[in-house]
Amino acid sequence: MSTVTTEEVSPKLIFGRFRFWLFMVGLVVILTGLLFGYDQGVISGALQFITKQFHLSTTLQEVVTSWVTLGALVGALIAGGLADRLGRQRAMVIGGVLFAVGALGESLAPGTWVLVISRFVVGFGVGIASVAGPLYAAEMAPSATRGRYVSSYQLAITIGILLADISDAALSSGGKWRLMLGLSIIPGVLLVLIAMAMPDTPRWYLRSGRRAEARATLAKTLGGPNLDGRLDTMQAELAETTGVTWKDVFAPSLRRALWVGIGLAVFQQVTGINAVIYYSDKIFDFAGFTTPHQQTIATIISVGVVNVLATLIAIAWVDKFGRKPLLYAGLVGMTVGVVAIAAAFAFLDRHHATGVSVAGIVTLIAMIVYIASFAFSLGPVVWTLIAEIFPNRIRGKAMAVCTAFNWGAAFIVSATFLSVMNAIGESTTFLIFGALCVITFFWVKAKVPETKGKTLEQIQAAWAEHDEARQAGPKEPAYD
Ligand code: BGC
Repeated sequence: MSTVTTEEVSPKLIFGRFRFWLFMVGLVVILTGLLFGYDQGVISGALQFITKQFHLSTTLQEVVTSWVTLGALVGALIAGGLADRLGRQRAMVIGGVLFAVGALGESLAPGTWVLVISRFVVGFGVGIASVAGPLYAAEMAPSATRGRYVSSYQLAITIGILLADISDAALSSGGKWRLMLGLSIIPGVLLVLIAMAMPDTPRWYLRSGRRAEARATLAKTLGGPNLDGRLDTMQAELAETTGVTWKDVFAPSLRRALWVGIGLAVFQQVTGINAVIYYSDKIFDFAGFTTPHQQTIATIISVGVVNVLATLIAIAWVDKFGRKPLLYAGLVGMTVGVVAIAAAFAFLDRHHATGVSVAGIVTLIAMIVYIASFAFSLGPVVWTLIAEIFPNRIRGKAMAVCTAFNWGAAFIVSATFLSVMNAIGESTTFLIFGALCVITFFWVKAKVPETKGKTLEQIQAAWAEHDEARQAGPKEPAYD
């Protein structure tokens, strides 16, 4: 293989015309994250008005809420194939179109089923964009800034949730749920327009045998010397990943990494984050914040703002403190927060409080602790680890499997949360999330490798050593 690296970052990257392209790549990633986040967040404020207008039962409230995640699960599963066949750029355009069309359908829905189908279509678009956007960025950005794009995607999700909370607050006094949902047409259309103006990635052009276009794109976006040498290196790297099948992803030697990835994806959801995000207004309603306005303000502070700020902390600290310490600290905070929410509900149950009470304030503080703890740990760190633990050859497919498990777990939690809460009570429901946080803590301790400061090759070597040591004796070797 040639010794030329795929990128030779010229100083022009920072100053000059190339910066424009990196900015555009960043914009695309941010828009895909915003779409995802806005949609996660907006339903918490809209649900109560939809419920009133369409007389939704608890089950239908769950369907309206959760079918976005079901659509996203399906979208994420087909996105990899779509992005390979049609290109990363066209996959993003398709994701944006589906999203905008679905959002239009939601805002005009005459009844429950059009709304539910539109939610599914929106989710489908989100699922495709959530795979194609980061993939596009990973292939376009120079490696020095690649990590920053992964984190800006997570940050954009949290900003999307915050924007949704703000639009919920601004529109809740008139009960304008159609506008709340319809506003998301804007980032959808923006994504379509911007993605249409962008070229596909040099790697995708090479895969499709279009070397001239690959060369032209590389020259236009990153520029720098020795274009042909770098394209040859890319081609050699691509050869490594062609012919990789799903069977390779499930090969015994990779099974441990796959289990860790799937475990991280599932534990991120079953510890309750989206139940809390989707149903935060309802939680505040139970806690005595009686008017929709009070509820959305409480949500903006405890979910929206705190989520964004704590994600910024994670971005600053993930390489300094490492992944596992952040996960430990976050899981302890999440457990404390969720158990305090459970306790507040137990108190409320006994005293039937109305109006903002001590228990209501405790719930607010507990929500802040829970969300902040998630946002500097499981939120971004899970995605960072999932991007790091797989060998290059199977990374794309393995990440798709983990993403699908993540959406699947999100779907199950959001499709059952209200019914479970009605059946066993709020306190017990939140205690179950607390127990799952504790289980996650010990699972992370036992199974997750520390990847801080290691190259991807060193991480692979550590897996191999780990497997050998396990075969040699019953004791779990330490990864870190
Ligand atoms: C999760 C989403 C969640 C978001 C909250 C992400 O890492 O995958 O399910 O809604 O964080 O900020």
